Amino acid sequence: MKILIASPIDMDAVKELAKNHDVKDVTTATREEINSQMPDCEVLVFRSGIDISAELMERAPHLKLLVRAGSGIDNIDMIYVRERGLELVRIPEPGAQAVAEMAFAFMLTLSRNLFKADHSMRQGKWTKYEHEGYLLKNKTLGIVGVGNIGTRVAEMGLVWGMKVIGCIEHLTAERKSEFAQKNISLMDFDDVVSQADYLSIHVPLKDSTRNLIGAEEFAKMKYGSYLINLARGGIVDELALREGLVNGGRIRAAALDVHKNEGAGKLSPLVNLPNVILTPHVGAMAVDAQREIGRRAIDIINDFEKSQRGIQPAGRRVGTGPLNVHMIQEVDND
Ligand code: MLT
Repeated sequence: MKILIASPIDMDAVKELAKNHDVKDVTTATREEINSQMPDCEVLVFRSGIDISAELMERAPHLKLLVRAGSGIDNIDMIYVRERGLELVRIPEPGAQAVAEMAFAFMLTLSRNLFKADHSMRQGKWTKYEHEGYLLKNKTLGIVGVGNIGTRVAEMGLVWGMKVIGCIEHLTAERKSEFAQKNISLMDFDDVVSQADYLSIHVPLKDSTRNLIGAEEFAKMKYGSYLINLARGGIVDELALREGLVNGGRIRAAALDVHKNEGAGKLSPLVNLPNVILTPHVGAMAVDAQREIGRRAIDIINDFEKSQRGIQPAGRRVGTGPLNVHMIQEVDND
C-alpha cells in the first residue's frame, strides 16, 4: 500500500513497513510538500501536531485508512472522516501507560520541589532547608476523566496510598458502584475540583471541555493544591491559571505537558513562573510505548491490506468501513 508517515513513529516500524509497502516519510516536510504527496496516499499515519483537515484528506482520492498512532482525535476532521466512510484506527493503549506514569513524575516533582532543588545545586547553593515538600500518601487525587488513562492514574494513586476521586462525562449509579469496588469514588466534577489535593486532567479536547478548568475552578480548588495537565492544551485556561499562581491563589503549583499553542517558537504565558513545569507534549514519548505503537501500526496496516484483498485476518480488531469510527465515539474519556 502507499503509506504516508506524517508524524514521527518508531523508526524500526517504518523500516519494517517499507519491506512490503511503498512508504514515504513526510515528518519533516512542509505542508505544501505533504499536500503534494496526498494524491497517491492510501494510508496516512500520524500523531498529534498535524491538522488532519478535510482539505488535506480531499487531496487523497485513494485514501482508505487513517492510523492514529496514539489516542487523541482532536486534530482530525471527524465529520469528513465519517461522511467519506474512511477507516480510522487509534492505538491508545501503549501511550496511556506512559502518560499515566508521567502524571506521577509531575506530582512527585512538584510535591518535592525537585526542579528548584536541582536548579539551586547547579548554582553552588545548598538550600536543603528551603525545599520542604509534601507526601502523596493520604492526599486526595482528583481525576477529571476516569477513562483509559485516568483509570491507570487512579490505580497508581491507590498504590501510593492516596484517596482517589474522579468524574466521568456520563455518571450512572452502575458506573459509580463499578468504580467504588476499585476504591475510586466517582462524583460530580465540581466536587472533584474542590476536594482534590492533586487535580489531574484526562479528558479529550472537545467543545464541552474547552476551558473546562478556568477562573471559577481555580477559585474552588483547595489551598495548596496542584494541577496536572497531560490531556490537551485548551482544556486549562492558561491565563486564568497564571492569575491563580501569581496572585496568591489557592493552587500551589502546576505541571503542563500540553499547551494551547504548541510548536517551536510558541511561548506559554506561564513561562516565567517558578512554580510551573512545562514540557513539550512528551507524555507518550516512552521508547517502550512508541515501539509497541509501531508494532501495532504494522499489524493494522498489514491486516487492512489483507482485508482489501478479501482475506479476513484471524483474530484482529480491524474492521471495515466506518466501524472503528463508531467505536471512537464511545471512547470519550481518554
Ligand atoms: C496522543 O494523543 O496519543 C498523544 O497526544 C501522543 C501523540 O500523539 O503525540
